[in-house]
Order: sequence, then C-alpha cells, then structure tokens
Amino acid sequence: MDTVFLPATNEAILQASAFLQQGELVAFPTETVYGLGADALNEKAVAAIFTAKGRPGDNPLIVHVADKSQLAPLCHVTPMAEKLMDAFWPGPLTILLMKKPSVPDVTTASLPSVAVRCPDHPVALALLKESRVPVAAPSANRSGRPSPTTAQHVYEDMNGRIAMILEGGNCRVGVESTVLDMTKDVPCILRPGAVTREMIAAVAGDCTVADSVMRPLKEGEAAPSPGMKHRHYAPKASMTVFTGKKENVIAEICRRYDRAENAVILSLTEDMPAFGSRRMLSIGATPEETAHLLFKRLRQTDEMGASLILAQGWEGEEMVLAVMNRMARAAAFDVVKL
Ligand code: TXA
Ligand code: MG
Repeated sequence: MDTVFLPATNEAILQASAFLQQGELVAFPTETVYGLGADALNEKAVAAIFTAKGRPGDNPLIVHVADKSQLAPLCHVTPMAEKLMDAFWPGPLTILLMKKPSVPDVTTASLPSVAVRCPDHPVALALLKESRVPVAAPSANRSGRPSPTTAQHVYEDMNGRIAMILEGGNCRVGVESTVLDMTKDVPCILRPGAVTREMIAAVAGDCTVADSVMRPLKEGEAAPSPGMKHRHYAPKASMTVFTGKKENVIAEICRRYDRAENAVILSLTEDMPAFGSRRMLSIGATPEETAHLLFKRLRQTDEMGASLILAQGWEGEEMVLAVMNRMARAAAFDVVKL
C-alpha cells in the first residue's frame, strides 16, 4: 500500500477524513503522541489497526471524539465523568465508562467498558469534526516500540501499512494520556499522564493510582488495564534507570558506562558536564521536558546502536509519575535507587 504523507493542511485533513469514512487507517498528531486512527464503529477498520501495529487483540483502544456531545451513543456518561470532561477536555485525560452496544467488541477487546478522550490538538480536532465518526486510535507505533512523537517516527514504523500520515510537528506533551477508570466508586488512574492525580482529586474529591502502575504484574495477577501486561516503549538496548542521591547516581552511571562496550547515558541537562566525554543524550531539565523528549531519545539510542542505556530518573509526584512509569517500563522495571 502507498502511504500518503502530507503536512496537515485543510485539504489534507479533508482527504484524511474521507479515508476514515471509507474504513482506511490515518495517523494524526495529538498533544500527547501520534495516533493511528480508524472509524471506531467499523469492525473491519478497527481490526486493521491491530494488524498494522502487530498489536495483541486483547489490548483495547481509546475512542477519540470532537466533544462530549458525541458520547451519547457510545457510553453511559456519569455526572462525575462529565465534571472531569468539563475540567480537562480537550486534553490528555482518557476516561473509562460503561459502553453501549454500538461500540464493537473488537474496539474494546470485549470489555464492558470503553475508553474515551477528546484530544487537545487543532489537527486532531479538525479531523474528528470533519469525519463525523468516533475515531479509535492507539499510539501510531509498531507494538512494543516507543510511542511516536513526530510524523517521522510514524513513517519509520507505518510506511506502506496505512493509507495516510498527517504531518503536524512535535507532540507537546510527549507521553500518552492519563487513563482514568470511572466505572468504580473512586476514580482510579490506570496509566499516569499529564493530567495528574492531584489535578483529578481537586475536581473529583478523590483519586487513587492503581499500584501496578510502578511495578511488574505478579504471576497470575489480573491486569486492571490490559496495556499493563505487555512490554512497552522498549528500546533495543537493555536499560537501567537510577534515582536517589545525585553524586551516587552520577558515580554509578560512570562506573557502569566505563565497564560496558556500547553504552549511552540519558542525562539531565545540568549533569551533562559531570559525564565528561561519554556518549550521552539530554533528557531535559524538568520532568515535563523529560516527558517531551523521552520517546525520541529511546528511538535515537536504537539508531546509535547502543547495547546499554544508563538513565537518570526523577523522584517526586505529579508529572514525575507519568515519566517514571514510561522509564520503568522501557527498562523492564530495572530501576535502581541509590
Ligand atoms: O495519549 C493517548 O492516549 C494516545 C493518543 C493517540 O490519544 N493513545 C494511546 O493509545 O496511548 P494506546 O492504545 O497506545 O493506549 C491505550 C491504553 C492501553 O494501555 C489500554 O490497555 C488502555 O488504554 N485501555 C483502553 N481501553 C480500556 C478499557 N476499556 N479498560 C482498561 N484499559 C483500557
Ligand atoms: Mg501505545
């Protein structure tokens, strides 16, 4: 298949919405990462997403809408969920609600709930409005690869496999949306993102975080969200993340680097001089900057042929949880506290 790759002009967005209406796949920018979209109500189109990504069929998709008025046929919206939509939409908050029969099983991996989100990106919103269909869209990477934060990343993973890629620059946030389960009494975060626990609690009164967010599932443990079961964001190299006292972290990274054959350091901007002439990439000066850069850096370490990644991590709350969740998973939970 020839993949159309175009800057997201009005004309290109019209062409992309026609593709969606015909059941074809279109990749588009959002504020978090690029999505790989299909008409969420068209079973064949949604099945094609799983094939194009090589995604396990038991991992459900997020349904994207232009605004909350599009939700009535899709799910049962609770008053508290609506309050959160009013506070955070459009934005990086995905809400799980009980689904209605119009949403096919292939979209939700046969779960009784459906994940819904309204993205805060002019191209995504224009595409959703123009196509007038709810759009099922996972991140537009091959399954197991880091999520794409540029159209070039999407091209690397998806060229020849999908109808069209809309080019819309770098994604502002850089990590995927917060996934919030609103089907229980207390809202519960299944995947941390830029809408933080603190922000949700300020609106909803209370909000918990699933404890499997920061650790591997135990043998036989049921995953609150199927996405937790699968290896994610994986660079080709093996990776270790270090947190704790800064001098210790720098010393340990240098020690391991000097023993290794082909290591690359992911360094906070301020600490780059401390690593001297060792091969390194910057992951910024704040947790927000690390979120913005992380997936791009993981792809770069692949291109550099790294066999070992030694990364500085963050400690704290709010955005740190989103960043450390992705780093820990990329490192297969090899996180060392010094
Ligand atoms: O920022 C984002 O959310 C991006 C952009 C494109 O919107 N999308 C994204 O989709 O990250 P994806 O498919 O890569 O991640 C969706 C996550 C998965 O971990 C999946 O298991 C979970 O949401 N999920 C979706 N529907 C669910 C459901 N009904 N119950 C539990 N978890 C669900
Ligand atoms: Mg994904």
